[in-house]
Amino acid sequence: MSTATLEAIKYVRGDLKILDQLLIPVLTSEDAFKAIAEMKVRGAPAIAIVAALCLAVEANEMLKKGENASAEEIAKLFSEKLDYLSLSRPTAVNLFIMVDDFKKKIKAALENTNCNGSFILQLIIDEAENLMNEDIEENHKISHFGADHILDLYSGDKELRVLTHCNTGALATMKYGTALGVIRALHGHNVLTHAYCTETRPYNQGARLTAFELVYEKIPATLIVDSAVSYLMSTKKIHCVVVGADRVCNNGDTANKVGTYQIAIAAKFHNIPFFVAAPSKSIDLNTSDGSKIKIEQRHENEITMNSHSNKRIVVDGVGVWNPGFDVTPATLITGIITELGVISTKNENNEFDVQHFLTSN
Ligand code: MRU
Repeated sequence: MSTATLEAIKYVRGDLKILDQLLIPVLTSEDAFKAIAEMKVRGAPAIAIVAALCLAVEANEMLKKGENASAEEIAKLFSEKLDYLSLSRPTAVNLFIMVDDFKKKIKAALENTNCNGSFILQLIIDEAENLMNEDIEENHKISHFGADHILDLYSGDKELRVLTHCNTGALATMKYGTALGVIRALHGHNVLTHAYCTETRPYNQGARLTAFELVYEKIPATLIVDSAVSYLMSTKKIHCVVVGADRVCNNGDTANKVGTYQIAIAAKFHNIPFFVAAPSKSIDLNTSDGSKIKIEQRHENEITMNSHSNKRIVVDGVGVWNPGFDVTPATLITGIITELGVISTKNENNEFDVQHFLTSN
């Protein structure tokens, strides 16, 4: 395995850069908003981390300049920034969980009589850096829980073939990745014969990013078009599917990159276990089921324009529907791999009780 790990986010206190072929400096919340909305950084954990770290960069700048605003003024300013950043993309819940969490911590700090402006600024820096470090730890745990679970399922089988969709690796997280982390861990156990990744139309996260990460990690890999999934399953032995998540509901319904749902249906038809791998920060206990998730609609140009020539390749006058995500019902999901373990017990409706799992782990 390669020793250097790919990193999409580079942060040392006061300095944040994200990978977009060139490292883009992110100095303000406006820079971060633009980078997230334009998908220069993408993937549920990376979106939340970049939003938090840009606030840390701004807070650090204010501390360096000897900012002497009151705690209340700083709290108001950063609450507004958090609200603004929460408008950058709608589906991945990690961003909203981070925003709520930061607001609660700021509010709690204000109740402390010794709290001044600098205290709030330092709190923002510390919380953002914690979020970044936690993500690395969580990905490690997800990777190992997931790999162990799949190994148990296929005990003795040393020739596993796994399919994934979209990009959930080091380029979508702080390091290692979630679903792709599980694939890396299986490879580390020397039991992975092959990883298949979908192209992931229309933004091509699979073709552009996952294929790159798999080759970088020297994992034997093959790229397929999204519409080849069922045929792949019927002609090659695929042991399981592992995908990431943008939002897991209380019953286990999961929003992830568009195309995930049809892969889950194909997996069910072919009797292939279908796993979602995500940190608990992608779990939205306030949303009971997938019908209530806001699905981002992307611009029609992603489908109608050739991204190389920038020329329209579709006849004028046709309607375009371009949801960025879809919802896979819990009934099609075999297990949800988190940093706390694998949620695999189902209720009488063939759904999960995610809250029960979280409170008992
Ligand atoms: O639109 P994107 O590229 O942000 O969508 C990303 C996904 O759907 C990922 O599978 C998900 O965010 C998990 S990333 C660890």
